[in-house]
Amino acid sequence: MAPLSNVKADGTLVLDPDNDIPKVLKGNMGWHCDRTYMPAPAKRAVFSAQVAPSSGAATGWADMRAAYDALPGDLRAKVDNLAAHHSLYYSQAKLGHFPKKGSDYSGYGFHGEPVPPHPLVNVHPETGRKSLLIVRHAHNIPSMDEAESGRFLEELVDIACRRPRIYHHEWSPGEVVVWDNRCLLHRATPWKMTEPRVMWHSRIVGDPLTEAALPRLGGRVWVCNTGAR
Ligand SMILES: [Fe+2]
Repeated sequence: MAPLSNVKADGTLVLDPDNDIPKVLKGNMGWHCDRTYMPAPAKRAVFSAQVAPSSGAATGWADMRAAYDALPGDLRAKVDNLAAHHSLYYSQAKLGHFPKKGSDYSGYGFHGEPVPPHPLVNVHPETGRKSLLIVRHAHNIPSMDEAESGRFLEELVDIACRRPRIYHHEWSPGEVVVWDNRCLLHRATPWKMTEPRVMWHSRIVGDPLTEAALPRLGGRVWVCNTGAR
C-alpha cells in the first residue's frame, strides 16, 4: 500500500507549496487511470481512507464505457484509430512540477523507459466492451501536431467526464473502494491542505498480455518518439 497523504512520517503537515508531495496530490486532481505511463497499466485499484478532512477531498469516477457509447458516430470512428503517448513527466510538467531528486516524494511513476503509445479506445479483456482511455498523462497523438493533439485530448475529456457519467464520493475513515481501472477514470478533488488527509492506495498490476499497449493494438506496432518499439 502506498500513502497518498499530506502528513509526513513525523506527523506534521506538508505545508511548503514547493514540496513535491502537494504537487503530486494536485496532479491527481486531473482525470486519469493509474500507471498508464508504465509498460503495463494497473487493472484495478483499492483505495481506503484513514484520515479524512472536514470537507472536500472527494474522489470522482467517470465511466468511459458510457462516454465511448455517447460519442457522435464520426468522432467514435476517429478515436477508434488513434493512440497517444503517456507520461507522468508530461502531466506534472503541465502543472509546473519538475520532480526533484531526494525529495520527500518517492518518485514513483517517473518512468524513464520508453512506453508504447496506448490506443484511445480500450477493449476490456473480460467483457469485450470498448471504453475511452483519455487520461491526463496522454499526449502527442502520433498523427497530429503537439498543439492539435493537446486540444483534441482536452476536448475529449471535457465531453466524456460530465454528468451523468461521473460520481464523486466524500470519504469517511475506514471506507474502502475497489474499482476497475480498465474502464473508469478517477480524480481527487481539492481540500484545505491545512487539514490532514491520509489515504492508502494499492494498484493491482495489469496483465501485460491484456493491459500493455501492444497486444491491444492487435499486432500493430506504433513507433515511440524515442524510436523504441
Ligand atoms: Fe490515481
